[in-house]
Amino acid sequence: MRRPLIAGNWKMNLNRSDAVALATSLAGVKATDDVDVLVCPSNVYLDAVSSAVSGSKVAVGAQDVYFEPNGAFTGETSTDMLSDVGCSYVILGHSERRNVIGEPDELINKKIKAVLAAGLTPVLCVGELLEEREAGRTMEVVTSQFEGSLASIGEADVRKTVIAYEPVWAIGTGKTASPEQAQEVHADLRKLLAERYNQDTADSVRILYGGSVKPDNAAMLMSQPDIDGALVGGASLKPDSFAAIIDASAPKPAT
Ligand code: 13P
Repeated sequence: MRRPLIAGNWKMNLNRSDAVALATSLAGVKATDDVDVLVCPSNVYLDAVSSAVSGSKVAVGAQDVYFEPNGAFTGETSTDMLSDVGCSYVILGHSERRNVIGEPDELINKKIKAVLAAGLTPVLCVGELLEEREAGRTMEVVTSQFEGSLASIGEADVRKTVIAYEPVWAIGTGKTASPEQAQEVHADLRKLLAERYNQDTADSVRILYGGSVKPDNAAMLMSQPDIDGALVGGASLKPDSFAAIIDASAPKPAT
């Protein structure tokens, strides 16, 4: 049984007091007994947000990291620094880093290895552009990102990895993939895991959906068999909407 994970990617939003207020409010949300909750603020506020959620079940993650342990890498942050300020997860290969900042799979692969070696949990993002979907190339693109980002990562490490399918055309656009569209890619990703590793590993890896997840579509998405959680952007910036998504994602008792 895969435990749902609802992650908020705050991107380059919020100031210190808003970030701390949001984190403090989420620390008191009741559904966190059934759902893993993660918030990923800007690096600048990781320390303050970690303090705000300390003692709660809310985990803190970073939106990126550099793969070298230390040294002359101006502007970068290491895994040790992230651990030091209370991070346990790191988002990697987000579409904004792939498509806006230009990160290739080889770099993402090095970062995943550094994150795993540091005992942190990588959240690897994959997803196609609109033109790639329209050209029928979704799985070709997602497979190539999967293979490139996870190159030479063994079974034990992939079991510690979270994958997030985020179709780029659904991010920040209000256009959510339909539950069926998302489920299809999630099932294919799980098949890739089974082919590359084995079925038991494939069954254990959490695959999140991201792209315009809102309180009113979260339950439908989460009801799909291969959707194990959500990576939420805009709707994670408000306590009420993020709490409603967490609530909608809690496992329902069988009727
Ligand atoms: P939105 O929820 O704002 O579409 O963002 C999704 C996302 O990119 C999360 O990482």
